[in-house]
Amino acid sequence: MRKKLEHAAAKATKNAYAPYSNFHVGAAILLASGKIFSGCNIENASYGMTNCAERTAIFSAVAALGPKIEVRAVAVASDQGGPCSPCGACRQVIYEFGPDAIIFFQGKSSQGKTGPKQAHITELLPEGFRLQ
Ligand code: THU
Repeated sequence: MRKKLEHAAAKATKNAYAPYSNFHVGAAILLASGKIFSGCNIENASYGMTNCAERTAIFSAVAALGPKIEVRAVAVASDQGGPCSPCGACRQVIYEFGPDAIIFFQGKSSQGKTGPKQAHITELLPEGFRLQ
């Protein structure tokens, strides 16, 4: 399943719209239902309007299936091979729809080496915000 998600994430990098950073990112999410959705980063001339690949994938799933989706896993890929972990904003969005999600990404070790990593969302985002 991990390989399948990583493959879908890598494929999604091809649809990225990243003329400003030239950093093409893809993400794929696995839902509790077994369905997979993917997304890419979509940049904008007004840089702050950029949407990351992870959020595109999650928002696409919500748009297609409604807000009851449960994200079980997320894979992130970039076309540059280097480290690419979800940004802070995406961690909060992943937590909203996947408080028990596992994230697969390229990380950086303490020696500065790049390699595949996996982490629970609460490791990446301790004390994620939730409105009770
Ligand atoms: N980006 C993502 O789409 N996901 C990440 O996990 C990290 C960063 C995008 C945002 C922007 O379009 C580009 O990568 C460079 O920051």
